Amino acid sequence: MSLENSFSKAKMSKKPLNVAMVGLGFGSEFIPIYQRHPEANVIAVCRRNEQQMNEVADRFQIAKRYREFDDVLSDPEVDFVHINSPIPDHGWMSLRALKAGKHVMCTVPMATTIDECDQICQAVADTGKKYMMAETVVYSREFLFLKELYSRGDLGEIQYMAASHPQDMEGWPEYWERMIPMHYATHVVSPVLGLVNKRAEYVSCFGSGAIRNELAVKSGNKYAVESCHIKLQDSDIAAHIWRFLFDTARQYRESFDVYGTKKSFEWSLVEGKPHVMHTAKKPEHEIAEDVTVPDYAHLLPEPIRMFTQSIQDAEHLSFIQGGGHGGSHPHLVNEMVRALIDDHEPWPNAVTSANWTCVGLCAHESTIAGGKIVQLPKFTLL
Ligand SMILES: NC(=O)c1ccc[n+]([C@@H]2O[C@H](COP(=O)([O-])OP(=O)(O)OC[C@H]3O[C@@H](n4cnc5c(N)ncnc54)[C@H](O)[C@@H]3O)[C@@H](O)[C@H]2O)c1
Repeated sequence: MSLENSFSKAKMSKKPLNVAMVGLGFGSEFIPIYQRHPEANVIAVCRRNEQQMNEVADRFQIAKRYREFDDVLSDPEVDFVHINSPIPDHGWMSLRALKAGKHVMCTVPMATTIDECDQICQAVADTGKKYMMAETVVYSREFLFLKELYSRGDLGEIQYMAASHPQDMEGWPEYWERMIPMHYATHVVSPVLGLVNKRAEYVSCFGSGAIRNELAVKSGNKYAVESCHIKLQDSDIAAHIWRFLFDTARQYRESFDVYGTKKSFEWSLVEGKPHVMHTAKKPEHEIAEDVTVPDYAHLLPEPIRMFTQSIQDAEHLSFIQGGGHGGSHPHLVNEMVRALIDDHEPWPNAVTSANWTCVGLCAHESTIAGGKIVQLPKFTLL
């Protein structure tokens, strides 16, 4: 059976949850996953460009098509929205959806200001609706593998963590030229906080190098690289993260290194090469070994397990330049669906998402102040 015929078959049965997909670039990659999920259905799509919206909706046989976000929110059949709009729209869209009585799953980051993050947390508290930030890194197979090792005690005590996300955004949508590296930092913040399940308490960040003047004027940031230290709350651990968006020569990488008393994990330097595990107390030449990271599809309902592998017809540039996000997409879908069906908090919930997002926002404040320590806002530390 072809993939698209199987979607139609899955759609025929009555399922308990209706999602509306908002933004159909990266967002369209999630549609087939929801359609095959035993408990979710894509009831509607929303995109401003009608022709491009129809192309996606025809392909996945979705009848309800909205050009206006407010029309999605007025549709009583929509239980939750999955927002994949451009970054500046995440904050206001999430807020408006929560206030309209819809649950929200939103791609990263939560918002571009601390105030919007605060308002979203407040709206979740006021409405009782659920919010989840769709952070791909913490559902990647590498993260799930390290979390398993850490939970079992195989890494020992964590001494230090480091994460990097160099990515040259030349050729991506124009709004990236107005972005600041640390305003898109959740892919490096989330693994270092998520592994040990701690909040960031304060940060200190330095700007380094320079981007070309035209981009500096557009974004209001002159630095090429931002390099930040994070102090974890109620912990002796400090972590280091760094990012660039333009004018720095390096292949894309979303790396996560963990140093423990028993074992340490280092991400490969070049895409496609093996990661390395170091084991303490061995003869020097045996300490470092290539490691094969297992897949975690078995944690998912059977019909969506196939999506942890690379999807043959995936079109979005982030699949080519983002390595398929470590097989995370079906785990994200399943986490949100399960949270709604079982009525538990999704991970990350609103306050955790706010803490992860505000690390980057506070880091840039620190950059501007020459590396001054900036405390995370209190509402993210609850
Ligand atoms: N690993 C990850 O987590 C990851 C990877 C890729 C993209 N993303 C995120 O996904 C989002 C989308 O990325 P993209 O590359 O597809 O962007 P894009 O600009 O190509 O697409 C955005 C989509 O949103 C739609 N849109 C914009 N404004 C809208 C509105 N007011 N109402 C309804 N639809 C609207 C556009 O029509 C388009 O379909 C971004 O926020 C990006 O950060 C996350």
